[in-house]
Amino acid sequence: MNIAIIVAAGSGLRFGAELPKQFRSLAGRPLLAHTFERFDLCPSIDEIVLVLSDDGRRRFESLAISSSKPVTIVEGGPTRAASVMNGLAAVADDDAIVAIHDGARPLVSVSEITNVIDKAQETGAACLTAEITDTIKTVSGGEITGTLDRQRLRRALTPQAFRAGLLRRAFAEYGTGDEVTDECFVVERLGHPVAFVEGSSRNIKVTRPEDIVIAEALIGFIE
Ligand code: C5P
Repeated sequence: MNIAIIVAAGSGLRFGAELPKQFRSLAGRPLLAHTFERFDLCPSIDEIVLVLSDDGRRRFESLAISSSKPVTIVEGGPTRAASVMNGLAAVADDDAIVAIHDGARPLVSVSEITNVIDKAQETGAACLTAEITDTIKTVSGGEITGTLDRQRLRRALTPQAFRAGLLRRAFAEYGTGDEVTDECFVVERLGHPVAFVEGSSRNIKVTRPEDIVIAEALIGFIE
């Protein structure tokens, strides 16, 4: 059993608009409708858990999106990790694979979802990543202090997929504070290896208003 947990309960403060970014129009439809559709279309996903605020639930339900899969809506928490935990609480089976995804990443492809799930089935924990194309510097006191080897660096994207029992154990150990910005973080801390699967740098997280423009330009290229 493979279950998507899509977290979309954030307030979108950095986006700075009144309408939460997950409900902003992207190519004529709410951003979250695009994200939801990728998981609905993916044959590897059996069920979808959607984590929303109270207001988000009302907005999502008013869209009346039909789904070919069972959908459960649960309420978000004060941090992203707490929202993930709430989603995870809706998954009873510790052997299930859960694929955690940011609702604000509408450009995920069906093959990215499938590849991460396949890898997590093999290893228990897998992260979708993208290469770094910039040169990355460390800084301190107004000066550059070093250059990192970008061959050894990756951007952590979502989905990130885990055996549910493993992720539950990792959160129980490390909690759901603001510093937990992805799920790999807590699983890494547990000492469990996390495999990675190369994804596309197009799979951006819509964070600022200009990201909508970029997402609109790219959405036609996503399969
Ligand atoms: O804040 P950030 O952009 O990292 O959020 C990533 C995803 O987590 C977004 O889709 C956002 O809606 C979701 N989130 C959540 N609950 C929170 C904070 C963020 O579901 N308390």
